[in-house]
Amino acid sequence: MSQARTGGSLAIRVSVIAALAGLLFGLDIAYVNGSLDLISKTFHLTTATKGEVAGMLLIGAAIGALFSGTLSRKFGRKKVLILASLIFTVFILLGVVAPTFEIFLISRFIVGLAVGIASFVAPLYLSEVAPPKIRGGLIAMYQFMITIGIFLMFLSNSALASTNSWRIMLLVVVIPAAIMLIGCLTLPESPRWFILQGKHGEAEIVLTKIRNTKEEVDLEMSEMKEATKDKASALKLLKHKWFWKVLILGAMLQAFQQFTGMNAFMYYSTQIFQQAGFSNPAVATIVVGLVNMLTTILAIKYVDKFGRKPILYFGLTLLFISAFFVGFVFKTHYHVVNGVGIMHLSAALQWSTLFFCLVFIFGFAISMGPIIWIICSEIQPLEGRDLGITVSTMTNWICNAILGTYAVIWLTYHPGNTFFAFGAVCVVCVFFTMMFVPETKGVTLEEMELKLRSGAKLKNIGA
Ligand code: BGC
Repeated sequence: MSQARTGGSLAIRVSVIAALAGLLFGLDIAYVNGSLDLISKTFHLTTATKGEVAGMLLIGAAIGALFSGTLSRKFGRKKVLILASLIFTVFILLGVVAPTFEIFLISRFIVGLAVGIASFVAPLYLSEVAPPKIRGGLIAMYQFMITIGIFLMFLSNSALASTNSWRIMLLVVVIPAAIMLIGCLTLPESPRWFILQGKHGEAEIVLTKIRNTKEEVDLEMSEMKEATKDKASALKLLKHKWFWKVLILGAMLQAFQQFTGMNAFMYYSTQIFQQAGFSNPAVATIVVGLVNMLTTILAIKYVDKFGRKPILYFGLTLLFISAFFVGFVFKTHYHVVNGVGIMHLSAALQWSTLFFCLVFIFGFAISMGPIIWIICSEIQPLEGRDLGITVSTMTNWICNAILGTYAVIWLTYHPGNTFFAFGAVCVVCVFFTMMFVPETKGVTLEEMELKLRSGAKLKNIGA
């Protein structure tokens, strides 16, 4: 019995360390929101070069995600996680002391590489070490760490605002980076990666440590062996139509996730609240971070209970309603005069706008935020998982970079239409989910793979 409990708690400890990657992801994304004006003063930036500060990290992330598949296949998940945390620690420090804007941008780009690598390897690792029953919850925990990172950064940036030092704001991020580095050194390698290397003995040793009973170990060992019997390489899988189906599904889901517009809030919430006439937009931004974080706890609790699809429908409906409301307010009250947005709202309308912005955050954090990462890590066949998750994660970063770069312009000139567009994406996504998304709750990865290979329709490969 105590052996059993040890297995379960070890799996959770291991997951917490891997999920630290999510924390750094969140901290790095949110860093710009609150520090950009200070950076801009130090380096005398123009509007265009300001955009590079946010954009450089996202471009780095897309490239990092591109190489992370090959890296983690070749060297193993653990080593790549160590590499990412080493890059985080060293290059965040370089950013802190950067004497010129060019060096600062280089550090942002390289930290971006680590963000991209970690955003690929951490969920992959989690999906491979987590017991099937709580797999969704553990990957949702990764998302939770992202939201904690975002919230902490909003808080920390606003608490450190009086120092007027973006360097101190950045220095804060070094602490979790160093903790992750130390933690990753203690992680076991993924049993599934061992199987892929033909090292069955090693796989069994790790599995015995992180599972509760011998039966669980035996079952998972035989399922994993079965799934890797046909040693096709990921590239060879490309000649199968069924592999293309999950590749495209993953990429589409990540594109939908980004174009719901959540990151418009993550990067530019301060501007949105300023436009809506709030005298203290930084406080509203902290509330956004808080709602995002707390809601993710609910998602963790319910994702393995109600399943992925019902929660997606629920969240997308909230996203649509709130995007439509906020869009309507901007559409009817907002004007641009000489390049400056003007809007006069009654107190009631102002508070309703804030309320619906928070409903929007809630809707995303309960559904699209965690669940897309979960599904993307679950649907790929074992042999093609590295390539599959690379494709979906890269799509996430590319769309994120597009949104991060242009949303600031859209929000300045056409905020109403921007929110209508976000709402429209949600409607399309509901139909897409109905037609193509499988319910992956409680199903083993191998079961799904068997159905996929046997030519089942995408939405039928799950439960
Ligand atoms: C998304 C990020 C987003 C975050 C917000 C994640 O699932 O991939 O782009 O910033 O959620 O919590």
